[in-house]
Amino acid sequence: MRIAVLPGDGIGPEIVAQAVKVLKALSSDGVKIEMEEAPIGGAGYDAAGDPLPAATLKLAQDADAVLLGAVGGWNYDTLPRPMRPEQGLLRIRKELNLFANLRPALLYPELADASSLKPEVVSGLDIMIVRELTGDIYFGQPRGIHINANGEREGFNTMRYSESEIRRIGHVAFDIASKRNRKVCSVDKANVLETTELWRQIMIEVAKDYPDVELSHMYVDNAAMQLVRAPKQFDVIVTGNIFGDILSDEASMLTGSIGMLPSASLDSNNKGMYEPSHGSAPDIAGQNIANPLATILSAAMMMRYTFNSEEVAQRIENAVKKVLANGLRTSDIWTEGSRKASCSEMGDAVVAAL
Ligand code: NAD
Ligand code: IPM
Ligand code: MN
Repeated sequence: MRIAVLPGDGIGPEIVAQAVKVLKALSSDGVKIEMEEAPIGGAGYDAAGDPLPAATLKLAQDADAVLLGAVGGWNYDTLPRPMRPEQGLLRIRKELNLFANLRPALLYPELADASSLKPEVVSGLDIMIVRELTGDIYFGQPRGIHINANGEREGFNTMRYSESEIRRIGHVAFDIASKRNRKVCSVDKANVLETTELWRQIMIEVAKDYPDVELSHMYVDNAAMQLVRAPKQFDVIVTGNIFGDILSDEASMLTGSIGMLPSASLDSNNKGMYEPSHGSAPDIAGQNIANPLATILSAAMMMRYTFNSEEVAQRIENAVKKVLANGLRTSDIWTEGSRKASCSEMGDAVVAAL
């Protein structure tokens, strides 16, 4: 298993170090893992004047899988847009054709009290959000800020999806649902936006190939409400890039914290990049208090999806469960009566539990 390790910025290096510890522990246990590190985001800009240095992209292309921390930081927010950390992330997703972003919102029973919702609303929660990752308003042309006919500045972006882009993410969602509770909810804004009217039409076409999976549709505003009203009604949610970005952060709070939500970004051959769904958390960076579990659980997803090793994936996930059951908590999921752990203590505990 050749893994490119891209820590990135902010809490990125702190949380990635914990996942690397876990992978090294597996490695000394006989799982053959090789890791090599490279800068991305602000770290890429600092090292090579580019948020996605050519050598980093090459390393990622040559690897079987990529483990990423997070990118971004206040000191980079005023750089010209192509130089900003976020562009490094968007470019690597596009270059590697990682169009399918899986974000599982799963509540570990031990964390029912850590969620901001009532335990009965979230207990047993297990949703898979399938977010399209290489299209939509994120990449649509034209875009920019220009002077309009009235002589004032005007900003514009283009929401755009082709039929084939929608169809391939639709198949990913239905394939996953076939192996789960066989329900797909497609989230759109077809009442207002033509792009998502097409999205809905294609989802209906894709559904014909999966007679035993039930398809429903929901407008994104209602979906945002339903996710906090009655989240357990969902099995698989499939949606576009921007709606999926927003809904997955919302769903993370059902699981206790954004620090619990892992992700896999896959191409059509299950080569993938694995990263927590959260960002670089500049407000807590450098303090060794971030929750590393989303990153560690992303490494488990890597074992499952790229390396087809369900057994190793479950070993990691079971180790996380054990640590939570023992009452260890980083501050974002801390509740009365549990024991507080730093980022590195949490990583050590998961390694011990392996
Ligand atoms: P964020 O996800 O970084 O942080 C939001 C809040 O959640 C903060 O209060 C933060 O402290 C907390 N948080 C996030 N991860 C945590 C963890 N593991 N443990 C404990 N608390 C955690 O979002 P933001 O503040 O909007 O963005 C900060 C920077 O990150 C920006 O530059 C943004 O562009 C970037 N970003 C990057 C990614 C990515 O690399 N995939 C994702 C989102 C945001
Ligand atoms: C995410 C992030 C990114 C996104 C940003 C940093 C480009 O929010 O991975 O969810 O919007 O996709
Ligand atoms: Mn996001």
